[in-house]
Amino acid sequence: MRSIRFATVALAAAALSLPLVTGVATADPAADQQAAPHSNARFDRLRWAAPEGFVVGTAVAGGGHHLSQDYPDPFTYDAEYRKILGRQFSSVSPENQMKWDSIHPEKDRYDFGQADAIVEFAEKHGQVVRGHTLLWHSQNPAWLTQGNFSKAELREILREHIATVVGRYAGRIQQWDVANEIFDDQGKLRTTDNIWIRELGPGIVADAFRWAHEADPKAKLFFNDYNVESVNAKSNSYYTLVQQLLAQGVPVHGFSVQAHLSTRYGFPGDLENNLRRFDALGLETAVTELDVRMDLPESGVPTAEMERKQADYYQRALSACLAVDGCNSFTIWGFTDKYSWVPVFFEGEGFANVMTDDYTRKPAFYALRDTLKAARQG
Ligand code: XIL
Repeated sequence: MRSIRFATVALAAAALSLPLVTGVATADPAADQQAAPHSNARFDRLRWAAPEGFVVGTAVAGGGHHLSQDYPDPFTYDAEYRKILGRQFSSVSPENQMKWDSIHPEKDRYDFGQADAIVEFAEKHGQVVRGHTLLWHSQNPAWLTQGNFSKAELREILREHIATVVGRYAGRIQQWDVANEIFDDQGKLRTTDNIWIRELGPGIVADAFRWAHEADPKAKLFFNDYNVESVNAKSNSYYTLVQQLLAQGVPVHGFSVQAHLSTRYGFPGDLENNLRRFDALGLETAVTELDVRMDLPESGVPTAEMERKQADYYQRALSACLAVDGCNSFTIWGFTDKYSWVPVFFEGEGFANVMTDDYTRKPAFYALRDTLKAARQG
């Protein structure tokens, strides 16, 4: 549906040489200046190649592992990075800047500086924002994890955090990852490492969604996790939980797969079917953190065959999302290897993004662009 409608508009606009403004991607002043009349340069950009209503996102590098690297904050200091960020993408996700340890560094102090800057950048560039994340077992500040709080106090801390952070950006966040990685790979709730579930019981997850919805009734509220691309024990647990929550009237709107993939393993070929079963429950779906890492060869330079395989994984992940009606948000976890979390977290692996360290486009970039174009043209 979306591609047919868009194709008509695109043809009409092309015939008149009109700038094409669609969906949420309403403003890209840089693109307007760059693209000569009759040029199709705009469609060389991922955001403009995409079908109407389909956003293409990236993580915005900063915080987390970047703090221990020998470069300054990428989002703030890398002009080339910012230029590509604004031009290529129609959605942004703070990589770390909205996580508890960044945004809530002391019990009675929030630090909104970096998150505000990202939301403002997004608005200036006609981009939507995915908020990440509110209830997670990781990247929580020591004051929280090592504090000596009663259950009632902890519950109030979470409620207040969600009301404050979601409330601050109300109306400006398209999708929130309310609950991140609450199940382990066996499909069991994280009842030991997730402080909220351990201390307050599984019902706290529903409360988190309720509080987020109160603070921003317009935001779409998601479960987000890795290793849930396939139909497996972990995604089955989400499938069951979501049905229970929907039956109770809990405001859950989406299920998203992170998609941190590796060419060590086969592509999760049932991704589309897995998204479809959540779609059939009435949920939106999304791909939120796609990267495709590989074992680095001794030379440090991947072969053409490795690049081709990587491009194929990117393309298949995108195609799966495009094929599902309610999958309208597709995000890659950064676009340049320069700032990738992969080499820091997966020893001996890397080259996971669609551009090299010096922003050279890889086959994976072109695979995404061409797949988006084809979908737009229907
Ligand atoms: C990663 C960031 O990319 C790193 O900078 C940080 O040091 C650790 O977290 N799943 C998630 C993301 O939901 O928040 C993680 O991001 C990657 C895995």
